[in-house]
Formats: sequence, C-alpha cells, structure tokens
Amino acid sequence: MTLRKQLDRSALEIRGRLPAGAAPRIGLVLGSGLGGFADRLSDRIALPYGELAGFAASRVEGHAGNLVYGRSGRTEVMALQGRVHYYEGHDLPTVVWPVRTLIASGCTTLIITNAAGGVDPTLRPGELVILSDHLNLLGGSPLRGPHEEQLGLRFLDLSDAYDPDLRVAARQAGTQLGLTLREGVYAALSGPTYETPAEVRMLRTLGADLVGMSTVPEVIAARHMGARVLGISCVTNLAAGILPQKLSHAEVTETAARVRETFVALLTRILETI
Ligand code: HPA
Repeated sequence: MTLRKQLDRSALEIRGRLPAGAAPRIGLVLGSGLGGFADRLSDRIALPYGELAGFAASRVEGHAGNLVYGRSGRTEVMALQGRVHYYEGHDLPTVVWPVRTLIASGCTTLIITNAAGGVDPTLRPGELVILSDHLNLLGGSPLRGPHEEQLGLRFLDLSDAYDPDLRVAARQAGTQLGLTLREGVYAALSGPTYETPAEVRMLRTLGADLVGMSTVPEVIAARHMGARVLGISCVTNLAAGILPQKLSHAEVTETAARVRETFVALLTRILETI
C-alpha cells in the first residue's frame, strides 16, 4: 500500500474518534516536559498512541504518548503529547508518521516544540526561542526512499521552512505577554548522548544557536505535505562546555517544568492570533 493510502486510512480512523463536526486545522507537537499543554484543553479526547495504527510508543521519561484533540479557547487543535525520537531506534519515516497523520487528518499548520540546549552562550535556561531555520545533522532525511508524487515533491525547497508570518505572530504574542522572544537556528543531532564541548564549538561555528535531537524530521515531513510550520524551542540548559557543569535529563525536564506556565500562556496566545 502507498504511504498516501496508509495515511488516508489513518486519518479516517482518527477523525472517526473525534466529536461530530470537529475540524482541527492546527497541530501541535509538544516536546520534553511541555506535554502538559494538552491536559489544559477543553472538550479533550486523548487517543493513546498504542491504539493508533503506525504510531510507535515513546519510552522517554517526560514524554506521554497521546494524540489529544481539544480546544484552546475557540481554536480546535490536535496535539501530539510526546514524540518518538530517532535515537530510540525508529527509522525516520516512523518518527514522522504522527506528524504526517495530523496533516492527513486536516491540520494545515503545525506548531512544533522541543527542549533544546543553548549553543548561543547569550541564551538563558528557561528562554523560549522561535526557530528561524535548521541544520539537519541527523545523517538522514525522512523523505529518503521511493518518491510518492501524491505526497509531495521529490526535491523540496526548504527556504522558508519556518513560516515568516507565523514567526511574526509568535513574536507579537510574546510581546503581548511581556516576553522578548529571540529567533534561532536549531541543529538536530541524532543523540542520545549530549554533545561534546568540541561538538558544541563546531555547531556554533556552523551557525547553530540551539541543539536538540528532534524536530527537524517533523518539519521536513510537514513541509513536504504542504503544512505551515512554527517551531519553538525551550532552552532547558546551555549546551555542553559553555558552563562548568554537567548536563542531565533531570535538568532538561526541571527547566521545562519551570517554564510550563509561560509556555502554556504563549501557546494559548499564539493560538488566539493565527
Ligand atoms: N543537547 C541536545 N539535546 C538537548 C539538549 C542539549 O544540550 N538539551 C535538551 N535537549
């Protein structure tokens, strides 16, 4: 079966479990420690990944595995509460399957969030950063493999992968909340180790401001299917070697938890304006 057919089938399955008349146009991918946003939605319906065809279960602490439908104010959304990562051993098509199903189910805009290390030493843990571009250093693409014309282009332009209008809207939403949101370039490495200090110096030289282990495959798949993308990183720590302290997953989840309310407020405000 073609991927297009599998996606259409999956979309039918998902839409069949939403309330009659539901038509969410905005999809959210909630990163490490940021999944709590989906618990705040009204008219909430949570579909565990285990019940959805093609969804791999995430086993990372801080990542629940649910596709959640609900409303933020008047805006209907579908949220991926937790994601699967390349470092868990899944191939990239599996990693992007949930994002593809959101788009196949009707989402035309995706807000993709993550926890990231700050490579730019002027970033502060707890800061939220709007992604302006990325460096794909994963060593692979989710689009590798046979080309399916019904899904998207073979040779995809990624010039404006992170939608300029959505970036402006996000910045304005931040301003309304008293937040000065900076923009940054996100470098994706496969992990699961954190980077070495030498790798972080390399990333800085290459033009990265942030580093993480996700997001880029999802952005590529979303752009491939024609969705608009907004990317937001929560800087949970400064990358290795910048401060004289070691990195830990506990620090990542603790910082994400500390900014939870700000993150929820920003996302809520963005959803009111786009
Ligand atoms: N490196 C890679 N991924 C991350 C980091 C980091 O420093 N922090 C949170 N995710």
